[in-house]
Amino acid sequence: MAMAAVRVERSVWWILCGLFFLVLLGATRVARSQTIAATPPMGWNSWNFFAGKVTDKDIRDTADLLVSTGMRDAGYVYVNIDDTWEGERDAQGRIQSNSKFPDMKGLADYVHSKGLKLGIYSSPGAKTCARYEGSLGHEEQDAQTYADWGVDYLKYDLCSYGMVMGIQAPDDPTKRNRLMREAYEKMHQAILKTGRPMVYSLCQYGMDSVWEWGPSVGGNLWRTTGDISANYDRMIAIGRSQAGLAKFAGPGHWNDPDMLEVGNGKLTLDENRTHMTLWAVLAAPLIAGNNLTEMKPEVAAVLMNKEVIAIDQDALGKQGNRVYEEGPVEIWAKPLTGRSEAVAIFNFGSSPTEMRGIGLHLKEMGMGREVRARDVWAAKDLGRIGDDYRTTIPGHGVVLLVVKR
Ligand code: GLA
Repeated sequence: MAMAAVRVERSVWWILCGLFFLVLLGATRVARSQTIAATPPMGWNSWNFFAGKVTDKDIRDTADLLVSTGMRDAGYVYVNIDDTWEGERDAQGRIQSNSKFPDMKGLADYVHSKGLKLGIYSSPGAKTCARYEGSLGHEEQDAQTYADWGVDYLKYDLCSYGMVMGIQAPDDPTKRNRLMREAYEKMHQAILKTGRPMVYSLCQYGMDSVWEWGPSVGGNLWRTTGDISANYDRMIAIGRSQAGLAKFAGPGHWNDPDMLEVGNGKLTLDENRTHMTLWAVLAAPLIAGNNLTEMKPEVAAVLMNKEVIAIDQDALGKQGNRVYEEGPVEIWAKPLTGRSEAVAIFNFGSSPTEMRGIGLHLKEMGMGREVRARDVWAAKDLGRIGDDYRTTIPGHGVVLLVVKR
């Protein structure tokens, strides 16, 4: 009788443990799905192509094209209006959009009706970088206006606030840093007060190692460098400078090496693939910046390669790092879920025609003697390969593998 009671007690105990575990698992899943920017944000931003010329029509056309090209379904859901939308403030100090954007609420509704989200841009300074109206002294009012319009994402760009810092603390870098953090925290609190979830994107060009304190002022992403341009050398200089920053990124808080230039300027197919690969391996936000009205199929194929996007968006949320270099050839690796790893072999050599042969260097990567591999850009399974695997890569080109032990 006593033995039977103990058995019943034990099974009740195990059932309770099981229930507790299931509740915990569910709570973790819910928490993850509620994290803003649980994976690096994906979308499109007006600056890299339209710069100061962007209009309401460009944003509506882009929203239509994000849907018709398949970009939205590939994950590019934020449509972000960058600088130059701002008008004057009204008598109550409420910010108005300028004549290029006659109806912000109507625009937000349109973007939302397409299953997309709207992003906007401002500065903690009195003026933005293009010398339009900034948010200084109007933070709560502006955040509330964005929330009323239906904005889902704010890029907050230091610009003229640098002058405020310089005037208030010309000889005191510690105080200048404190002022900057306070300015970013102020807008963070203003956003929270609206009750509307918004991705908060810090833009201060990587000053004062922002990756160390970006999350403490509410940043979901923070620019780690100065501006990118549609130029191969500039793009790879930015990408390669991210080595060592991996430990600062994770779900909800990402290093941002700036928006994509894929499809802009004279970047070749190899260069566009190198750009996309670097950003994916860096778990960087994928914010396209090209003109979708004239997107070439080869550019669409780079931006919408599902396997590359999956590397960037992998749920583990780990940024990759450089693991090997030999002259202009570098190998970068990013841990993925399921004990897989993305391995990118770049030939950063200066001549686009110079080919380089390179092995895998699995041992240096701590990956044992052999792996099962898939060549992502070639869309080809390679079976099991070891250190004797050799590939030849043209200058400015890349081979991207997903490998599994
Ligand atoms: C800065 C930012 C850019 C862009 C412009 C707009 O240069 O770094 O990304 O937002 O301002 O003026």
